[in-house]
Amino acid sequence: MRSVFYVFYTCLLLSLFSCSTPETKGSPDHIRRTTTSVDDTKITQGIDQDWLTHGLNYQENRYSTLDQIKKENLDQLGLAWSLDLGTRRGIEATPIVIDGIMFLTGPWSMVYAIDVRKGSLIWTYDPMVPRSKGENGCCDVVNRGVALYKGRVYVGTFDGRLIAIDAATGSMDWSIMTVDSTKPYSITGAPRIVKGNVIIGNGGAEYGVRGYITAYDATTGDQKWRFYTVPGNPALPFESEAMKKAAETWTGEWWKYGGGGTAWDAMAFDPQLNLLYVGTGNGSPWNRQYRSPDGGDNLYLSSIVALNPDSGTLEWYYQTTPGDTWDFTATQHIILADLPIAGRIRKVLMQAPKNGFFYVIDRATGEFISADTFVYVNWATGVDPNTGRPIESSFARFESVNADIAPNYDGGHNWHPMAYNPNTGLVYIPAREVVARYGHDPNWEYQKKGFGSGNGWNLGTGFNPAKPYLEDSLAKTQNYHAKLIGWNPVTRRAEWKVPQTAAWNGGLLTTKSNLLFQGTGDGQLIIYDAFDGSELWQTNLGGGNIAPPVTYMVDGKQYVSIAVGWGGGVGQKYKFAPLQPGRVFTFSLQGKAKYPSYLQASERNIADIPFSANKTELANGADIFNRYCSICHVLNKDGGGIIPNLTYTSADVHQNFQSIVRGGVLLSLGMPNFGDRLSEKDVNDLQKFILNSAKTISKK
Ligand code: HEC
Repeated sequence: MRSVFYVFYTCLLLSLFSCSTPETKGSPDHIRRTTTSVDDTKITQGIDQDWLTHGLNYQENRYSTLDQIKKENLDQLGLAWSLDLGTRRGIEATPIVIDGIMFLTGPWSMVYAIDVRKGSLIWTYDPMVPRSKGENGCCDVVNRGVALYKGRVYVGTFDGRLIAIDAATGSMDWSIMTVDSTKPYSITGAPRIVKGNVIIGNGGAEYGVRGYITAYDATTGDQKWRFYTVPGNPALPFESEAMKKAAETWTGEWWKYGGGGTAWDAMAFDPQLNLLYVGTGNGSPWNRQYRSPDGGDNLYLSSIVALNPDSGTLEWYYQTTPGDTWDFTATQHIILADLPIAGRIRKVLMQAPKNGFFYVIDRATGEFISADTFVYVNWATGVDPNTGRPIESSFARFESVNADIAPNYDGGHNWHPMAYNPNTGLVYIPAREVVARYGHDPNWEYQKKGFGSGNGWNLGTGFNPAKPYLEDSLAKTQNYHAKLIGWNPVTRRAEWKVPQTAAWNGGLLTTKSNLLFQGTGDGQLIIYDAFDGSELWQTNLGGGNIAPPVTYMVDGKQYVSIAVGWGGGVGQKYKFAPLQPGRVFTFSLQGKAKYPSYLQASERNIADIPFSANKTELANGADIFNRYCSICHVLNKDGGGIIPNLTYTSADVHQNFQSIVRGGVLLSLGMPNFGDRLSEKDVNDLQKFILNSAKTISKK
């Protein structure tokens, strides 16, 4: 009552000048006013009342100074609301939140504005990504979030556009195509705002593209600069000194296959040093022997590049995996911190890329400080402290014989964000124990469409490591594949590890009250003690989680939100909990909302369909399956994530097999149309191979 009068009197006073009706929270006026205030100063200050930028602040440490929710009151933590998005594929986004307004992305680069006070949608923006573009991504049609700046929300879309949306109304302000649409580029990463520019990279190194990162003026969308991560055709002029230097480390005709090095996720910014850090990806194709036949480091693949954010020029680089041949991207989360190392405080950056080493690098100069394995690693025996180069194992490049390499293309750590808590001094890593068999693929040839690793993909043994590959004694007695690690970057070792049964878990959040939050692939949201990794609280989210949680304050109350939407590279093919629609869950003290009802796992039957097949047909079918289908589908007893395990395809669906595979009838769901690549006979052989695999499995 009192507040109403207060507003009334204030209005009366102000009406001498100008006054409108009191602003309703969540209204376009409120959103406009509050989002317009997000400028460089605000982002740099990193005020933790709100969650203004992807990694919470420019250091990207995902450490919030909020402490209303703490160990002592976790028994009062409950669900404030949940919101069903009705989507069915992976959600990897970090929500951006300001004064109770949340901006989130979902599958196919959809953007949602959500009213945290009510737990309801304010607007939805659908960029209408053509579903035929779905096959340009290895790892689901995901998006990792938006950027917010001066009243606009920025999203990179799966088909390569950068779109500025009016935060208040959800209508488009401008849209720019950032890629050559005739090439298989994609965008899944979140844009960042640095000094008035929107910075955006892209993905597609598995498919044959040349990586780069671009800065666009946040107001007008004009291009400010572009930094290519790998050199183009050396017969043409180099775009920069950095490209000229890089070209000396390549051989053969790599530019015909793109070269790769796509910057699809990590960025961080140091305003004092005026350096923008970007992680770059793997080579295109994976196998260096086909990409750069006479060897070479292939700069700037699998590197951290430090750029001048005003001009896009390269200031320094550090290459984690010279001459990458295993898909060891260095696009994983980069965290900036000032750490006491050998008696002095050093400005460092930290990264745990796919290759299994945890790196500490001087972020002013790029000088190597340390690198230590955080999971079982066999491709290198260590990193030489004098040169900063890995010491490769003799078998690592599988030159004459196939080799089981750990970690593998899925990474000892993938894109799932880490977090760094200055109180505990620990970096938390959502890590995984993975191995795969690598070998040459004598039939490899560059294809303009489709996944083209050139690494004997059909030899991949999948992500389930056999026990001998697991790192420690605990692993030998327990069959786990993932672990949460509390890593001390100063003493260079794990202080604790929590074994996890699901092989693909969510990103992390840590707070000043020394809590550590993570959603898991088997559907739990867990709060750990950030000091020792002991479990303090847990709740069931129904479906598997991969996205990181965030925390923020609204009207004096602390909230924790997490978007659930199973999917991503592993989630396409495997699941550890029943599939649920995409949902946002928000928790607070005294939260008492009812949980949504969860779908149960449905029964799976192998259809009994008569067929006959000879050996040649089955071999052709197997080859086509491995080349064209296995990146999304599996054929086995237990698999099948958000994309169906074709072992269990029903008789009805089999009736329409030709029109599904060659006619595009499921294109609207993201099932590619292979009519341009596969003949009727190929698809018949493929169907026979699938039916035969199902029969063989059902007999086991
Ligand atoms: C880029 C990922 C992708 C690739 C590659 C892909 N598919 Fe699919 N497929 C999908 C999606 C998505 C669906 C639809 C899932 C749904 O129901 O929502 C689907 C559905 C199907 C279905 C229907 C299955 C059922 O039980 O309902 C069949 C059959 C199928 N795909 C066959 C193939 C074959 C054969 C290939 C290789 C030539 C292939 N797919 C390659 C993504 C893919």
